[in-house]
Amino acid sequence: MSDGLENVVAAHTVLSEVDGQAGRLIVCGRSLDELAGHTGFEEMAALMLAGFVPELPGPKELPTALGAARVSLYEAVVSGARLPAELGPVEAVRALTALIPDGEDAGTLLKLLAAPAVFTPAVLRLAKGLSPIAPDPSLTQAADTLRMLGGNAPTQEQARALDTYLVTVADHGLNASTFAARVVASTRAGLASAVLAGISALKGPLHGGAPGPVIEMLDAIGAPENARPWLEAALDRGDRLMGFGHRIYRVRDPRADALKAAIRKLGADTGRLALAEAVEQAALAILRERKPGRTLETNVEFYTALLLEALGFPPEAFTCVFALGRTTGWLAHAHEQIAGGKLIRPQSVYVGPRPQQAA
Ligand code: CMC
Repeated sequence: MSDGLENVVAAHTVLSEVDGQAGRLIVCGRSLDELAGHTGFEEMAALMLAGFVPELPGPKELPTALGAARVSLYEAVVSGARLPAELGPVEAVRALTALIPDGEDAGTLLKLLAAPAVFTPAVLRLAKGLSPIAPDPSLTQAADTLRMLGGNAPTQEQARALDTYLVTVADHGLNASTFAARVVASTRAGLASAVLAGISALKGPLHGGAPGPVIEMLDAIGAPENARPWLEAALDRGDRLMGFGHRIYRVRDPRADALKAAIRKLGADTGRLALAEAVEQAALAILRERKPGRTLETNVEFYTALLLEALGFPPEAFTCVFALGRTTGWLAHAHEQIAGGKLIRPQSVYVGPRPQQAA
């Protein structure tokens, strides 16, 4: 029995390897350095899924197929969508995703790959009383997502920065949401159910819900000189510092630097980046002082927050953008699980009361 399944190995995978000691990530035989900034969302999806779904269009045709899937989803689901006002963006995206019928075929997979790109901008605009913008199938998924969000075609640099983010977070071993997706896929419930499980696990603040609170932290700190007292007070209250710590990494998360490089390339607000760097340095120093027995380093979520903010996403929608990148991983893992064919069904140790023995 291992609390939180820590150090438990539960799958063989050809998809990704997270080396927590060396701070290295390999996805489908390529290092993160080779992928981030050099590969687009579609190419990454083709790389990860091709071996599992032979009928999926190849890297050249996938952008067109994905564009068509965005258009058909928009027409079938978004036009005329009525969402309860109290749903936050992730819950709203999850609710719309639940309208996609289950299946394990390439058509279902394409719809699920397209879903967060279409639904995220739509739910954000609907929440502001604006009409959603229909997809442009001629654009890449990253460029079209930004266009549907803001109304204007993004610059090449903005589209490339979003592609860098989506590729950086596409897969990461057996993280909580991927494990959840594999469990559901193993019951043969279908790919939509597996993705819904992934979204539900991702939205928690210990997993993909962390970057929104990173922005709240930076806004509350406001200036570098306030960082230390603010962070000390947060830890005194028993809060965790969002964007720090990881189950696997005992060194800096390599994804943090890939995203920081993308922020610099984008030429985003340098004052904001300087504040973030000051907060990061203060947080790392305090965590070292307070938790000497545990290496707590910067994780992917810290610079995710800055990059997605610079691209115009509101903090409450950051998890939806994470889902847009990670759906590729969930779908590839779901297929890998299905191909393996074994139901995931661990055991528990009963520690409750026993029935009274008959006298
Ligand atoms: N701030 C303050 N203390 C922390 C933090 C943190 N961010 N992370 C871990 N600790 C402490 C924790 O309180 C515990 O202390 P103690 O032993 O005195 O009780 C110790 O470090 C070990 O923590 P743990 O909960 O056993 O570690 P874990 O491997 O279960 O947790 C984690 C990993 C990511 C949930 C955790 O580091 C955390 O809550 N971080 C903040 C949330 C966050 O940034 N999440 C995004 C993770 S990266 C994206 C992804 O892949 O999901």
